[in-house]
Amino acid sequence: MKRGYPLLIVLAIVGLLFPATVAAKSVDIDPCLSCHDTVTPGVVKQWHESKHSKVGVKCYVCHKAKDDDPAGFEHNGYRVTALVTPKYCESCHPKQVKEFRESMHDEAGLFSLSAYGIVEGEKVVDGVTLGQTLNYKTHFSRESAEAGCLDCHGTVIKVGKDGKLINWPNNGIGRFNPDGSVGSCTACHTRHTFSIAQARKPETCGQCHLGPDHPQREIYEESKHGNLFSANGEHWNWDVPPGQWGPEDIEAPTCATCHMSGFGGALESTHNVSARLKWELEPVFSWPTDPKYLAGKEKYPIDPDIAKRYEKIHNLPPGSLKEVKTGAPNPFAIAKKYAPDIYKAYVGPGKWWSKGETRLDAFGGDALRSANEKREDMLKVCTQCHVRSWAEGDLNKADKTIDVYNAVVLAIKLKYYDPIKKEKLDEDIKFNGKSEADNLWHEIWHHEGRIWRMGAFMQGQDWQHWEGAYEVADDGSHLADWLEKLRLRKAIKEKLNLK
Ligand code: HEC
Ligand code: HEC
Ligand code: HEC
Ligand code: HEC
Ligand code: HEC
Ligand code: HEC
Ligand code: HEC
Ligand code: HEC
Repeated sequence: MKRGYPLLIVLAIVGLLFPATVAAKSVDIDPCLSCHDTVTPGVVKQWHESKHSKVGVKCYVCHKAKDDDPAGFEHNGYRVTALVTPKYCESCHPKQVKEFRESMHDEAGLFSLSAYGIVEGEKVVDGVTLGQTLNYKTHFSRESAEAGCLDCHGTVIKVGKDGKLINWPNNGIGRFNPDGSVGSCTACHTRHTFSIAQARKPETCGQCHLGPDHPQREIYEESKHGNLFSANGEHWNWDVPPGQWGPEDIEAPTCATCHMSGFGGALESTHNVSARLKWELEPVFSWPTDPKYLAGKEKYPIDPDIAKRYEKIHNLPPGSLKEVKTGAPNPFAIAKKYAPDIYKAYVGPGKWWSKGETRLDAFGGDALRSANEKREDMLKVCTQCHVRSWAEGDLNKADKTIDVYNAVVLAIKLKYYDPIKKEKLDEDIKFNGKSEADNLWHEIWHHEGRIWRMGAFMQGQDWQHWEGAYEVADDGSHLADWLEKLRLRKAIKEKLNLK
């Protein structure tokens, strides 16, 4: 296949759309470049290396502030903005912005509002800590969250009275921008090269997708695919345009290949990272991404044979492990509770999200298809390199671990966690970080349980078993121990008439 970069065609199109930018051919006379060549030489060099420089998309094309953008400011005779939000990219890349909006990446900021507590710009009120809402051993402050949660998820960027940006820089994937848009395209296409080659490499996603609660990067490194990438990746063709990229360019897939790319001509490239997911793998329990479950309308059944097996092991009444709850966590409910102002500013007719009640409302476009249709897309990627029975066999194997996971973790919850609350054995169970039992339960589903499930789907055997399934079992027994100790403590206190 011949795939010369259609530069002339693009130039012609850009020329039609933006005659001024293409007409000003000489780089030297550009008002921004003349100064910034010395002020920010790195920025200018990266821009020269970018596709944008080849098609005449210069500094002021992106940085010219829109009239209604509060982040705009006067700068040497020009009204510019330092924040080039998705709204700015949208005029030339509407498809990518729309798909991004229809994905769960777009809601990442809503999720992190639980960590925000206070959202009023610079105002930091002492005593408002994450500990009120989450069970961490230490209480984190708002300042700490700015450099952690919010750098991955996105913060609320505001414009101060003096025109200065507050909470900037931040390239969190779902950041709230002062112009009413959400997101940061530079999270994957770093300024100012804005390259697809970079976005396709696992390190780019791995900047956020790593660590104890979502070690996708580490899982990938362990997998055969990751192994091939590290052995041979430097020789692969990373720059081939979407749609033309295929198995003749790379030997093994990266994160982007499976979750986003147009690959081998079999499917279109998408910025909706939710569009190829059959399952929800990060909540307490897992369920398929069909609209009825996303809306939390129906419970999701556990395979009856597997359920019976674990009811017997844990000596639970028949039917205890029949089904699991669906629909949570709900990003809109989180925002409503912890940052109602932000919720109101961004959700409603004509706003960034037209509707925002259930988890389902986070999705649009291809992510609203049935779970099985989404799986079919994932299989279309695999079958560019594997026969269908290989790929399907592997994913079916992972599907089965979901039933086991749901049954095991529901059994642990019913048998060893819920009684602590019901019998009032531990007055510290307020999800406030003081209770060891609480921390154990959190680690079971939020860390080890996710690792178990994600390891299974992305060919990470050690993660699936030793860091995942095994650790869940281990912490399950610690929780059982805690229950026994707490019951004993209560009995002794009652006997000795202690408070
Ligand atoms: C007369 C020289 C000059 C010109 C012309 C100029 N800049 Fe700048 N620009 C600067 C200097 C100096 C800074 C501050 C650098 C620093 O703080 O390290 C700056 C900072 C910036 C910033 C960062 C603002 C912030 O929030 O701190 C942006 C964005 C920017 N310029 C864009 C542009 C664009 C776009 C143009 C063309 C319309 C342009 N500049 C023209 C000199 C210039
Ligand atoms: C394709 C659009 C685009 C073009 C073209 C572009 N920029 Fe930017 N620029 C951005 C984005 C996106 C950011 C990241 C800021 C953010 O959103 O937080 C940025 C950030 C900046 C910053 C502040 C970041 C820092 O590290 O200090 C400066 C200064 C800047 N650009 C100058 C320039 C100059 C000079 C040019 C021309 C050589 C240019 N930009 C061309 C999109 C663009
Ligand atoms: C004035 C129009 C315009 C604006 C604004 C613009 N781009 Fe582009 N962009 C283009 C054109 C034209 C191309 C080259 C055509 C192509 O490859 O599709 C391009 C190419 C790209 C590519 C592909 C690069 C590659 O390696 O193939 C990325 C990624 C990209 N733009 C991201 C952005 C982002 C992010 C923003 C906003 C911060 C942005 N663009 C703003 C016109 C624009
Ligand atoms: C700047 C941080 C950041 C980068 C970079 C990033 N992500 Fe994410 N991603 C997140 C966060 C935060 C979430 C979870 C919040 C959410 O789902 O709203 C997420 C969620 C996801 C999901 C789950 C979506 C769903 O429907 O549950 C997938 C799949 C995903 N990302 C894939 C990728 C891929 C592939 C890349 C690289 C091409 C990538 N991400 C780059 C932060 C990032
Ligand atoms: C290193 C980057 C990073 C940091 C730091 C981080 N997260 Fe996340 N978070 C992610 C990614 C990536 C996901 C997606 C996990 C997945 O889909 O497997 C995620 C998922 C979530 C989810 C679940 C989203 C969903 O779709 O169900 C919530 C809620 C959340 N994070 C809140 C927080 C809070 C609160 C903090 C700080 C206490 C935090 N995160 C810190 C990257 C991060
Ligand atoms: C999660 C990472 C990620 C984010 C965030 C992201 N992109 Fe991309 N983008 C990619 C990947 C990966 C590709 C290459 C897709 C492929 O291989 O088919 C790409 C390709 C592109 C292209 C080239 C498309 C073409 O047909 O040539 C453009 C333009 C683009 N992105 C614009 C954007 C804009 C605008 C945003 C912000 C709304 C954005 N991207 C946000 C990962 C990302
Ligand atoms: C061989 C293809 C493949 C590769 C490579 C791959 N993934 Fe996945 N990923 C999958 C499959 C399959 C699933 C399970 C999808 C489903 O059915 O829900 C998954 C699940 C996920 C999820 C969980 C979504 C949820 O429900 O929370 C995230 C996040 C994710 N991958 C990110 C990544 C990142 C980041 C990388 C690279 C470090 C990566 N993936 C590499 C195929 C892949
Ligand atoms: C770009 C090509 C490519 C794509 C796309 C791809 N794979 Fe692979 N995969 C390979 C290669 C090459 C190997 C190594 C084959 C071997 O070991 O014999 C491999 C190995 C595997 C293995 C064996 C792991 C091991 O430990 O030996 C499994 C399972 C697998 N792939 C599943 C999948 C699934 C599922 C998908 C889609 C979600 C997928 N692959 C997508 C190229 C690909």
